[in-house]
Amino acid sequence: MKFAGIAFSMLALAGAAHAATPPLLPMPAQIQFATGSLSVADGASIVIPAHDAATRDTAQYLVDLLARTRGLHLKIKTGPASRGAIVLSREADAPVAQMEGYTLDVTPAGIRINARDAAGLFYGAITLSQLLTPDAKHGAVSLAAMHISDQPRFAWRGLMLDSARHFQSVADVERLLDQMAQHKLNVFHWHLTDDQGWRIQIKRYPELTRIGAWRTLPGAGRDGEPMRYGGFYTQDDIRKVVAFASVRHITVVPELDMPGHAQAAVASYPQLGVTGKRPPVSVDWGVNPYLYNVDDATLVFIHNVLDEVMALFPSHDIHVGGDEAVKDQWQASATVQAKMHALGIHDEDAMQGWLIDRIGEYLAKHGRRLVGWDEILEGGHVQPDAIVMSWRGTKGAIDAAKSGHDVVLSPAPTLYFDQLQSARLDETTGRMPVQDLASIYAFDPVPKELDAAQSKHVLGAQANVWTEHMPSMQHVEHAVFPRIDALSEVDWSPASTHDWKNFLSRLPTQLARYRAQGIGYADSAFAVDIAMDAIVGQASDDTHVTLSNLADLGAIHYTTDGSTPTLHSPLYKAPFDTHMPTTVRAASFTEDGDALAAPRTRLLDRASLLDFDGNALANCPDSSFRIRVQPTPDATSMSPVYSIDLFDTCQMLPSTRMDGLQAIHFDVARLERNYALAHEQVKVIAHPHATPYGEIVVHDMQCNGAVLATLPLPDPQHSARRFRLDASLPKLTGDHALCLQFTAPIDGPLYATGHVTLVPAKGQP
Ligand code: ACM
Repeated sequence: MKFAGIAFSMLALAGAAHAATPPLLPMPAQIQFATGSLSVADGASIVIPAHDAATRDTAQYLVDLLARTRGLHLKIKTGPASRGAIVLSREADAPVAQMEGYTLDVTPAGIRINARDAAGLFYGAITLSQLLTPDAKHGAVSLAAMHISDQPRFAWRGLMLDSARHFQSVADVERLLDQMAQHKLNVFHWHLTDDQGWRIQIKRYPELTRIGAWRTLPGAGRDGEPMRYGGFYTQDDIRKVVAFASVRHITVVPELDMPGHAQAAVASYPQLGVTGKRPPVSVDWGVNPYLYNVDDATLVFIHNVLDEVMALFPSHDIHVGGDEAVKDQWQASATVQAKMHALGIHDEDAMQGWLIDRIGEYLAKHGRRLVGWDEILEGGHVQPDAIVMSWRGTKGAIDAAKSGHDVVLSPAPTLYFDQLQSARLDETTGRMPVQDLASIYAFDPVPKELDAAQSKHVLGAQANVWTEHMPSMQHVEHAVFPRIDALSEVDWSPASTHDWKNFLSRLPTQLARYRAQGIGYADSAFAVDIAMDAIVGQASDDTHVTLSNLADLGAIHYTTDGSTPTLHSPLYKAPFDTHMPTTVRAASFTEDGDALAAPRTRLLDRASLLDFDGNALANCPDSSFRIRVQPTPDATSMSPVYSIDLFDTCQMLPSTRMDGLQAIHFDVARLERNYALAHEQVKVIAHPHATPYGEIVVHDMQCNGAVLATLPLPDPQHSARRFRLDASLPKLTGDHALCLQFTAPIDGPLYATGHVTLVPAKGQP
């Protein structure tokens, strides 16, 4: 009847007013309120048993966290608990449902956290830290009496950071780990090697970091000196990170990607590769061709590297990648083909399977377990206990769980935190399509295709932070926060507690916690979008203004006099009428008057109707690989960003009244075309061009429509990266969409539209 009891409590909770839900993230399994309250003030003690190092670590973590986030100073003591004390107690028979679970009781007499294991006690302390930071104030907190009984839904609650494409300092990695802990996430998957950089010191193979950790950025540098980019973690750095994680009950699972994504390794030791030639450490994102070879000597290298990796990382699970290994080099190599023949292996996928199997055996011999991306299933055979991480959607997880493998769900694009989180024009870099907060929250790690027994193989869900387009920690934080809150609830909270509106009601407090800790979270979900319905060529200056935010959270207040909106500014209730020109500034606020996002400003005037931001223009039909990128490979700021389509540089200007317009201006950026597309290269569309560097061709209505203007692109060697092009337009009447087609050669630079502006004839409104 225990489960019935839990279900009843959750119903009671779901029925309670949202305001009654304490701002806890992730939501605990069960909360019951009682009568009375307790005040926790400076000097309150945390009572721990003597000689229990793990409990002391947790108590110290709680003390430090509360001092840092609320200026609340608690002290740790052993011995009998005084009135009002916080007691941390770890007992084998604690009344919790499972390991990592805890109970937390607040009564007028004090607080008690009970758990069976050190992790459970830590999670109880995290919940208490959130109860003690219910607002942005400092000092004493009054808590309602309550009983919390909580445990995680999943054992693998993961976040992956790619430190290969861009490199983060140890301090930055630790900051992220600390936030993972505050969200009860427990697996840090650390992507340490890839084509663009080898980031882990291996003492036996120093070239891996002397050469492999550095790349020369295309088109960056000064005075003819190219710019190098890179860095690596020494073994001391790694031990420090692992220890930092361990105190926070986070396992660090290292990933060394093989047999593909190996270009930095091959650049360091060409004999590991297939061609015998030394490539540079790659500067191209995407899928590069360099694989490890399958010689015995290379297996010995891999074993030796894994020996050092296993000595550094106590994790039972070691990730060896396996993704995106295009087999062209193996197919072209007589040596690899001869090895396949000798082994009786008929295709290259099976050859990869053989290699991954050998590595799995080696790990198993050392008491470890292999984790791989879902391509490891394609080899025909993989160690039965290998964990499959499903990234190409959920199919890998479904297939793997059905064949008895444990699985982790980290499907692209849903749990890829490098996807844009809004389509706002002030959103920074990322891949399209958008994966917003709501889409992360809606993800269920257990695919419907699995029956109850197969579902037991689902270890949990993991979000991946690929950093091709995140050159700074500011970008990483923007991508991770607050989507990590949705992830934490997906991974921790029982499905029965999931409630989007309730989740949103708890977020403003979490944002205040972020501000207290200096976390650069994205406010994209709460920023006000300012839309008007005026159209080009309309007779009057009237316009209707609609204000909204993506999450539909908070109350929107706005001004039309240029001043900063406050809680005392007009409250937005419905679309309103105004006259152009006017400047609307707007922000959404919590009930307590805290701004949920920085105010956004928009000048509404006739000129802005004729100006189109390139990031707002749709891509042309049939092209479909869109990302927002930085202007140069060494840029580290959040803006400007440019939307590009790797398959076809072509965008659509929406249908616009063209009467009286006489010219078109383009503000264009030239970008590096540093993308390795492997077999997808055939999807890149080449357009005929009439001048050496191609043109922008403006077509009427659609991309095969009449040519309205042709604007030749300048010589890349002798022009700035950003330039303007102008052309006159023929006289048009009525509404016309425009297809803006770049015809630049596809072996040259990429181009992106900053802005497109339509110019009225003199005397037109
Ligand atoms: C992956 O995104 N290549 C696992």
